[in-house]
Amino acid sequence: MPAQSMDQLVSLCKRRGFIFQTNEIYGGLQGVYDYGPLGVELKENLKKAWWTTMVYSRDDVEGLDASILTNKKVLKYSGHEETFTDPLVDCKDCKNRMRADHIKDSKCSHCGSINLTEPRPFNLMFKTNIGPVSDDESYAYLRPETAQQIFTNFKNVIDSTSKTIPFGIAQIGKAFRNEITPRNFIFRVREFEQMELEFFVKKGEDEGWHEYWIEERVSWWEQQGVEKDRIEILRVPKEELSHYSKATVDLMYKFPHGVEELEGIANRTDFDLGSHSKNQQDLNITTEVVNNKDSNAKLAVQNLESKEWEVPYVIEPSAGVDRGVLAVLNEAYKEESLENNKSRVVLALKPHLSPIKAAVIPIKKNNPTIVDFSKEIKDKLQKLGLGRVVLENTGNIGKSYRKHDEIGTPICITIDFDTIEDETVTVRDRDSMKQNRIKTEDLEGLLRSLLQQ
Ligand code: GAP
Repeated sequence: MPAQSMDQLVSLCKRRGFIFQTNEIYGGLQGVYDYGPLGVELKENLKKAWWTTMVYSRDDVEGLDASILTNKKVLKYSGHEETFTDPLVDCKDCKNRMRADHIKDSKCSHCGSINLTEPRPFNLMFKTNIGPVSDDESYAYLRPETAQQIFTNFKNVIDSTSKTIPFGIAQIGKAFRNEITPRNFIFRVREFEQMELEFFVKKGEDEGWHEYWIEERVSWWEQQGVEKDRIEILRVPKEELSHYSKATVDLMYKFPHGVEELEGIANRTDFDLGSHSKNQQDLNITTEVVNNKDSNAKLAVQNLESKEWEVPYVIEPSAGVDRGVLAVLNEAYKEESLENNKSRVVLALKPHLSPIKAAVIPIKKNNPTIVDFSKEIKDKLQKLGLGRVVLENTGNIGKSYRKHDEIGTPICITIDFDTIEDETVTVRDRDSMKQNRIKTEDLEGLLRSLLQQ
């Protein structure tokens, strides 16, 4: 059973230092959040899991870390300047602004008035000025998706790696959207991270690759602890497709506030590379692109048999990191009843995602021999490079167990007087709460096997 409500997650995140409202001491900034000491570890672990699967475990994908600031021409030819809009409605009585598609019963969501403006398009991109002169021309955009920087680097990556299609370019990074109604905690925010793969394929093989990536992505979310039956596969109706898409499948997850998109997997055809390319007329582009007068690169590959230049099709699995964090937190959150009318909150995260892999707890807070021994064990485990290990020297074993249950630490290792004599420790398992006595030399093997789960 996942969490029952968003409030449970929000409260845990604040209490234990996963996620804070940004600039809270000045009243916050709507739709923007900060990741605290545990949140930054969880988020990094999720990104690492994605990178390992999407880049390291394959020979047909290369990585990229491109800039956030984006030349306005990129977003002109990508179609974002024209079409990256939401329909916006104002309440004439209370001045509340809403997305037209979020309005229920034609009433203002704030005051209930029906005195509303007609919907009008509102561009979601953030503009910023470049250089000391702030005029109408010296602006750039904060990228609204990481994808465009992949397309503009297509030739650089091909030329430097000699890749041939099918192959992909993967990137994780920030994206910015001036959402009209950011809401539901980190679900819909104005500054977020995406994990995107642009996988370039031959036209005609695109539909097969699209199905392949849908299966791969569902299976990856399962490996992160997201139950398959809480993911719905939604084939987006034709009339709702983005301007670049021939077909999109959304992986819809049952978040605490409702079933919504966790990841989109789109068939972007040859629209993007075609739009950013020079000499478009020579490239047999199959979609309608804007006539490009500015690009200095031909974003195409040569067909070795026909010698014709062809613009590859693109399959794009695009996942939100923040929505991923919310989903894995939601899946892992449990409130359990214990004996003696007690209860506990436990975050049953997959160990590879846990912010802390092990807590080393000296049984006596002020006993130098035990504390020093504990530090030694902590240092040894930390040096394995398997993730964060902490020394938890509170002197209260029960309280330490509760804390580490709540933050998802898979094991607690207690050091006591016997440890000094026989080099054994007590290992307490987060999920079963069972305790085992093992040799200190076996800790490394235990930790490694946990992280394989
Ligand atoms: N490059 C394709 C693209 O950006 P998208 O469906 O607009 O497609 C992809 O976004 C993913 O990015 C979404 O599935 C979602 O996980 C995440 N995302 C989009 N907007 C977001 C927002 N305002 N806050 C948090 N995550 C968001």
